Amino acid sequence: MARLLLGVTGGIAAYKAVAFVRLATAAGHVVRVLQTPASQRFVAPETFRAITGAPVLSDEFQPDPLRGAFPGDPLPTHEPISHLALVERADLYVIAPATANTIAALAQGRADALVASAYLAADGPVLVAPAMNHRMWHHPATVRNVARVRDDGAVIVPPGSGRLASLGEAGDGRLAEPDELLDAVERRLADGARHDLAGLRVLVSAGGTREPIDAVRYVGNRSSGRMGYAVAERAAARGARVTVVAANVALPDPPGVDVVRVGTAEELRRACSAAFDATDVLVMAAAVADFRPATPESGKIKKQGRAGMTVELEPTTDVLSELSARRRDGQVLVGFAAEHGDGALGHARGKLERKRLDAVVLNDVSVPGIAFDAVDNAVTIVTADGERIVERASKVDVADEILDAVVARLPS
Ligand SMILES: Cc1cc2nc3c(=O)[nH]c(=O)nc-3n(C[C@H](O)[C@H](O)[C@H](O)COP(=O)(O)O)c2cc1C
Repeated sequence: MARLLLGVTGGIAAYKAVAFVRLATAAGHVVRVLQTPASQRFVAPETFRAITGAPVLSDEFQPDPLRGAFPGDPLPTHEPISHLALVERADLYVIAPATANTIAALAQGRADALVASAYLAADGPVLVAPAMNHRMWHHPATVRNVARVRDDGAVIVPPGSGRLASLGEAGDGRLAEPDELLDAVERRLADGARHDLAGLRVLVSAGGTREPIDAVRYVGNRSSGRMGYAVAERAAARGARVTVVAANVALPDPPGVDVVRVGTAEELRRACSAAFDATDVLVMAAAVADFRPATPESGKIKKQGRAGMTVELEPTTDVLSELSARRRDGQVLVGFAAEHGDGALGHARGKLERKRLDAVVLNDVSVPGIAFDAVDNAVTIVTADGERIVERASKVDVADEILDAVVARLPS
């Protein structure tokens, strides 16, 4: 059970906040609601009062009959200041739906409405679920404001895509569904205990590079990017500011993460190099080509007249070694080693020492059903202190184990 403070702002999707409160209370949480005046044009406060069993506040000067208490709590003896009392007691402050207007206020630190001043007064976790027309959502001002709010520490629950409120319009901007909101709330509550990457910058590489043979063919590998995306998603959930350099990944972007798309090993090298100095933690989960065709053709190589074909390969730059050579004190560097069968552990330990890494995540790619392009993984995390075997689990759970190893190696 958690005490949830819900800020409802003035969009059509305010009706979904009603369904969210029903789900949250059925799941055992207690809820108090703050509303902007605009939101009361969409859903009357009486609705939220009836389903939460508590008064709704919309104005700082309005007395709170419950004196900042949540349903079931004893009534405090003193008269509190409304925007301070409720967030102080809340385990989580959720703003859903969050309008473009309110997100702008949050980004600027304005305190001209109770929903926004409660946000400034909140020193606990905050979740913001935007909802608006797709043109408003993609406007550079909104993009900037959302990024600012995220950088300030709130978890953004990204809107979905589909039919929008205005007749005939479709696109991004629909409020996440009530069950998705509740999932995000429960995940954030579970992460509360380990918001242990807050304030850190984490750079993750993911996917597999493709090295052109000609205009249409390439030398590539089977990496899907799932492991790197799971690390990026979990690092963001644990409070980090995350950039993922994604090589040919066809998965949805992890929520709250900046994605830089690349194709070849050289592009990946340049993108990682540009972000590395500002990075506290580097996790190189991408499968980067060791060799590339020495002289790729600019057109498409014709089959006619060829009995066979030889492609000459040349080595690529070892990105991790290059970055490690310029690492500064305090940075934590994690590499991956995809090894096959016997001697895997020795190879991983060799890589750890040779490349001066803090950890190497060893994947034994001879085991069926894990690693490349699979949902699960089973790894051994090799560090200077020894080895930690992580039995087969979802890549998201494996990602948390890797991040635990990172946290253990952060400077105190
Ligand atoms: C019918 C209608 C629907 C609206 N829907 C949204 C919406 O979904 N998202 C949004 O950002 N603004 C929407 N607006 C505009 C906001 O209500 C307006 O920006 C208001 O100032 C928001 O105030 P608040 O952020 O204090 O709640 C809508 C306005 C109207 C009239």
